[in-house]
Amino acid sequence: MAYLIDHPAVQHKLAIIRDAETGHKRFRELATEITMFICYEALKNIRTREVIVQTPIAPAECRKIDTDLVVVPILRAGVGMLEGILDLVPTARVGFVGLYRDEESKQPVAYYERFPPQIRGGTSIIIDPMLATGGSTIAAIDLLKKNGASDIVVVCIVTSPEGIELVESAHPDVRIYAAAIDDHLNENKYIVPGLGDAGDRLFGTSH
Ligand code: PRP
Ligand code: URA
Repeated sequence: MAYLIDHPAVQHKLAIIRDAETGHKRFRELATEITMFICYEALKNIRTREVIVQTPIAPAECRKIDTDLVVVPILRAGVGMLEGILDLVPTARVGFVGLYRDEESKQPVAYYERFPPQIRGGTSIIIDPMLATGGSTIAAIDLLKKNGASDIVVVCIVTSPEGIELVESAHPDVRIYAAAIDDHLNENKYIVPGLGDAGDRLFGTSH
């Protein structure tokens, strides 16, 4: 299931991050800010437990998060979203999946994986700004499931309809949250209009 975060504050920031004139410093800041907003929504149904907190006046019935959260950035561009989600849930653990898209085949190539054991029984949140063909997201979900994860959420900034459809058909149990579902993929499998190459724009590199 895919959820679009259509809030004006998110859409305003999305307009700036898409702009080809936005430099890498501002791009990084916006990736952090947008991620925090999307994750705020993506985490709204996580398990909580009731606690009693003594305020200076009286006991208060409160709720605290009662789930192990594991954030999994897809290297490299996913790292640009890490600060935003850790600002929201500072006690989350972090795993990593290293994947890049082969320039010719456009297929994901895996080169690294490292997960904390809490993916079993907890909630894993894959972060990657771009879900284009969906191949990288599917590969990351496959790796997480192979290592015992069962509750998986994907948080992206920009997605394509083709990619969403592919991920949903491969993994119908996974929830996808994004700020945009764009129009289509071009012949190079880039999202149109998208925001270009997220890794390059985040880290100031270029092809
Ligand atoms: C980008 C992006 C996703 C992937 C999306 O990474 O960050 O991981 O492409 O494409 P897909 O949905 O078609 O698989 P890229 O391969 O450019 O690697 P990078 O993060 O190291 O720049
Ligand atoms: N990777 C990106 O960074 N951007 C796209 O549009 C597609 C894949």
